[in-house]
Amino acid sequence: MQTPVDPTATSAWKRLTELHEAMEPDLRAWFADDPQRAERFSYELADLYVDLSKNLLTDDVLSALAELAEAVDLPARRDAMYAGEHINITEDRAVLHTALRRPATDTLVVDGQDVIADVHGVLDKIYAFADRVRSGQWTGITGKPIETVVNIGIGGSDLGPVMVYEALKPYVKDGLECRFISNIDPADCAEKVKDLDPETTLFIIASKTFTTLETLTNARMARDWFLAALEERGLPTEGAIAKHFVAVSTALDKVAEFGIDPDNAFGFWNWVGGRYSVDSAVGTVLAVAIGPEHFKEFLGGFHAVDEHFATKAPAENVPMLMGLLNVWYVNFFKAASHAVLPYAQYLHRFAAYLQQLTMESNGKSVRWDGSPVTTETGEIFWGEPGTNGQHAFYQLIHQGTQLIPADFIAVANPAHPTKDGGVDVHELFLSNYLAQTAALAFGKTAEEVRAEGTPEEIVPARVFAGNRPTTSILAPALTPSVVGQLIALYEHITFTQGIVWGIDSFDQWGVELGKKLALEIAPAVQGDAAALEAQDASTRALITRYRDLRR
Ligand code: F6P
Repeated sequence: MQTPVDPTATSAWKRLTELHEAMEPDLRAWFADDPQRAERFSYELADLYVDLSKNLLTDDVLSALAELAEAVDLPARRDAMYAGEHINITEDRAVLHTALRRPATDTLVVDGQDVIADVHGVLDKIYAFADRVRSGQWTGITGKPIETVVNIGIGGSDLGPVMVYEALKPYVKDGLECRFISNIDPADCAEKVKDLDPETTLFIIASKTFTTLETLTNARMARDWFLAALEERGLPTEGAIAKHFVAVSTALDKVAEFGIDPDNAFGFWNWVGGRYSVDSAVGTVLAVAIGPEHFKEFLGGFHAVDEHFATKAPAENVPMLMGLLNVWYVNFFKAASHAVLPYAQYLHRFAAYLQQLTMESNGKSVRWDGSPVTTETGEIFWGEPGTNGQHAFYQLIHQGTQLIPADFIAVANPAHPTKDGGVDVHELFLSNYLAQTAALAFGKTAEEVRAEGTPEEIVPARVFAGNRPTTSILAPALTPSVVGQLIALYEHITFTQGIVWGIDSFDQWGVELGKKLALEIAPAVQGDAAALEAQDASTRALITRYRDLRR
């Protein structure tokens, strides 16, 4: 095992510390004095135009960040990931989501197995299945075609599929609807199935491990609802599960135990982390919804960004630069959070998706060798689509006391070009996208506020300090490829930060304790006196109150 490099012990870190201490951020002056600034700090990444110029970035900072990348061996760690080395140390696994989107003509032998051949074997099976469902060749028990696909999963087996389904709504086949059940709160399943026609509904049970309490409980509830709904109609239930339930998992033996025909199961491998799995068989619901051709374009988008990440030097490598900038803000400016603000309504679940990707990956306090981290790690990622966020929390980003770096994402071509009177509504929308980053960068001085005739006593309240860092990402349109590109971009940003901090971004031990305790507490909630007695005083009182309240 390679010992992680302590970033704080490198000369690059020392340089960054000095640059931070000496820095007097002044984006107004930096732009005024340097007409090339916007161009110099803007990059092309596949279809994405990425403008880093409104960050607290200078040539010296960029070169020190690139030096840091080399000092912590980021290029070598990246190469190790792509080659299938077991860089997920605590689980002793390869980390190969990049192999999920490589062309069929490639070969990559890992642990004695050609993983690219395996990936394309499963993709072909998924595409054939998707074609059958979409064409109406796959029918339900009464011979009717499928109209609704319900994906049951949680975490990585839900957030990616939901986010991409929402992002690519304009590509979803007419007459086909997808729904997603994730929460073990029975309200979720009840609301999602209540108006469904069992004869035209197909369930996909998606779980990497096929042991997750929420997913298996929801799958059983859905199965009970489905069989009861058929019986209510006087329809036969014999053989119905095989026509209405399929599975996605790495544990095909457990799929069979649940009663799903393994022929109707789509596999993947333990080298795909849950939060990195939307482009594996976990995306089966998407292949059905948008069709194999668009799904291939989606994978192509990931691959284009993978190629850039694999080949560019740190100083020109967009995901690395964005990850290194995040390190710059977290470790030197003490930023505790990072906003991701899509000016694209279809990306309304993007921040929720990123929360698992980034925070389950980098919310760690020990490094991959078990030693404590040497810096802060894992900022909070959050966001909402613009312009809704503007009327909610932007006040704090503009004038609050915390530095909150923010990524603004927009597309040039809307799915629904619309005019309000003579005005193109998308252009009004994009004006907001542009105005916000300008306001955050350049602010408004007291003199400018006074010049508007503002009474002196309220001048301070109307001053904007500026120098609030933002990255602007602009894509031609929200195509399947662009959505794949955006996901891969953030996957590699997350990887970059994890390597600098020396942590294993691919395990998630922090979610285990709560899961275990929930199972231990369940008997007490259900009325077991001895189990209740074993709880702490607070938990005991809450359970007692719950049992009093429960009708
Ligand atoms: O929350 C922990 C976790 O293991 C996630 O990493 C994963 O995406 C989720 O649970 C669901 O796991 P599975 O796909 O095995 O049901």
